[in-house]
Amino acid sequence: MHDFSYIGKSFCCEKVNLKKIAQEFGTPTYVYSYKTLTDHYLKLDRAFDYIHHTICYSIKANSNIAICKLLADQGCGADVVSGGELYRAIKAGIKSDKIVYAGVGKTEDEIKFALLSNILLFNSESQAELELINKIAGELNRRPKIGLRINPDVDAGTHAYITTGKKENKFGISLDEAFKIYKTAGKYRNLEFRGIHIHIGSQITSIQPYVEAIKKAVDFINKLKGEGIKIDYFNIGGGLGIIYDKETPAKASEFANSLKPLLKGLNCSLIIEPGRFITGNAGVLLTKVLFVKKSVNKKFVIVDAAMNDLVRPSLYDAYHNILPLQKSEGKISSEVVDIVGPVCESGDFFAKDRKLPFVESNDVLAILSAGAYGFSMSSNYNSRPRSAEVLVKNDQCYLIRKRETYPDLIRNEKIPAVLKRIGTGK
Ligand code: LLP
Repeated sequence: MHDFSYIGKSFCCEKVNLKKIAQEFGTPTYVYSYKTLTDHYLKLDRAFDYIHHTICYSIKANSNIAICKLLADQGCGADVVSGGELYRAIKAGIKSDKIVYAGVGKTEDEIKFALLSNILLFNSESQAELELINKIAGELNRRPKIGLRINPDVDAGTHAYITTGKKENKFGISLDEAFKIYKTAGKYRNLEFRGIHIHIGSQITSIQPYVEAIKKAVDFINKLKGEGIKIDYFNIGGGLGIIYDKETPAKASEFANSLKPLLKGLNCSLIIEPGRFITGNAGVLLTKVLFVKKSVNKKFVIVDAAMNDLVRPSLYDAYHNILPLQKSEGKISSEVVDIVGPVCESGDFFAKDRKLPFVESNDVLAILSAGAYGFSMSSNYNSRPRSAEVLVKNDQCYLIRKRETYPDLIRNEKIPAVLKRIGTGK
């Protein structure tokens, strides 16, 4: 569910007419709903009322500092995967004792930063990294808590690029190896092995793979218990799927209830790392139609957003619903078109052979379900300034990221002295 809908003939976010936002801030612009963001967070939080838990929002889904702050205000923690994300989380006011740090390759500087920030848990997934964390922790006189990420070898039934819990994926440590590490944990003198982490993939619409993976992890935790090794944190990762088109993902309550029997008696604090579930359907990308172009057997609607703004269709062939901001009155009903951006690649599209109400130049479209992995995956490809971001709360809207300018594009670039004469014609 979300708070984007037609009021009369105008497509709105909460009580704000999106056309007004397009006029005031220009296009392309991302628009997020405060209400949807908080509702989704609270839905999940309440669903797990039956167990001590922390929701660590996966910042990679949408890392705008205002979004992080909004969630921090609700009591949300963060799942980060880089020093940059950790910096954002802290700047947004997310409490460091609610921050978990994942990823297969943390650098020395990143590890230092996280150690000095006193985060809740390092989710680590290789012996080499454990050794490095152990070494730096010793130098800094810290004793971080570690959650080993295990690979349960479960197929999450999602796109290959975002499947992470199968044994051929780069993520996690096999159960056998993890067991060995726990048994010899004493050799890492500066680490406290307190957690188990799994994350089997993203946009998972069935509960079954979760149940399968969590069962394996729970058995593993019990096996450790049998050896006198106590696990305090069970991090079940993120990955909860949302509706883009006709998917029927489990509701938060169904998800939580189906895990209840598995988690009973475990005596662990639960960590959940949702990204898309919170922000995915809380954002749209507004884009203006530049031209409509007819070729021999196709009609192209060329818009001012492109794959640099929202790469999901190009990268994963992902479906995003696309709606005009104004319901047409008495116009020709609909036609089949490709909706494409101005970037010089044939892969730069938002929809192919899509039935769309008849549109013309200057009409504005909303690309739905763009709140997760939209702006956060955007780039400056083709030297396109990145879009603005706006947050709507009730009948008000707030600019939460200025549109980039041309000077922004070259701000960090330098022409070395040796090239000084360039441009002089000599
Ligand atoms: N935890 C870990 C360790 C992760 O790697 C991820 C996502 C999450 C949590 C959050 O997953 P979520 O709840 O958002 O599914 N760019 C892709 C998705 C990549 C997901 C990467 N890891 C997309 O646009 O579909």
